[in-house]
Amino acid sequence: MRLDGKELSQKLKAQIKEETSQLKERIGKVPGLAIVLLGDNPASKIYVNSKIKGCSELGFESFAHFLPEDTSEEKVLELIENLNNDERVNGILVQLPLPKHIDEKKVIDKIALEKDVDGFKPENLGLLMLGDKNSMQPCTPAGIMEMLKAYSIDLIGKDVVVVGRSNIVGKPMANLMINAGATVTVCNSKTKDLKKKTSEADVVVMAIGQAKFLTEDMVKEGAIIVDVGINRTEEGLFGDVDYENVSKKSSYITPVPGGVGPMTVAMLFANTMRAFKNNNIK
Ligand code: GUN
Repeated sequence: MRLDGKELSQKLKAQIKEETSQLKERIGKVPGLAIVLLGDNPASKIYVNSKIKGCSELGFESFAHFLPEDTSEEKVLELIENLNNDERVNGILVQLPLPKHIDEKKVIDKIALEKDVDGFKPENLGLLMLGDKNSMQPCTPAGIMEMLKAYSIDLIGKDVVVVGRSNIVGKPMANLMINAGATVTVCNSKTKDLKKKTSEADVVVMAIGQAKFLTEDMVKEGAIIVDVGINRTEEGLFGDVDYENVSKKSSYITPVPGGVGPMTVAMLFANTMRAFKNNNIK
């Protein structure tokens, strides 16, 4: 069965849109999201444009800052300082990856904690690890948890293998799964005998960025497969999972596109709404 992130994200967005219009009537303000993109990485541009479009659909205000690739670190930090001080801005999203001359850590450190709608700051990641539901959670892993919940997939006692150990996906994903009662193994592309690990798992989360990496022989019958990958190849767009073949064996699987991606964007809006309410409704 397909885990339909597109449909679910539309439901979530409809709820947020309704809430936005009610809040506008009640307090005369709407959530505002600032989006910062450096350079013209085609994939990043597509993501950023879909976030901007989403803002206008939901009735959010968006503040897009498209800067040249060679913008200095100082200028980026100055922009973030201004956004931190701008009352109309409830969330600040700096699209990653950043150009090499910019220190990602410095940039994330600069974002005000209450505007960290990506959930990338150490405080938010620490709260996530501790199982605090009120922290701002990174959008991709939060969206995956939301999707599993919507399909009534219980993680208690499940063996979960997360392939990928990034700060954005793998590490927070593993912690959310641990807090949900799963037994979690975190692997990466160099893990020894990865096939042995994935083929024993009840749930496999793929987040390594290699097209069709997870093949049918690497999963067990009835496994739940979550594909975070978006890989552009000459033959087209593929996830990290060989969907065509793995889907014949799995019980649930997320398609690419239309699985995790739309959920990630929906969670960004949910986090921005949360930041807005934290700031405006006492
Ligand atoms: N690059 C890839 N995914 C993300 C994300 O969720 N947030 C940001 N800011 N950059 C990303």
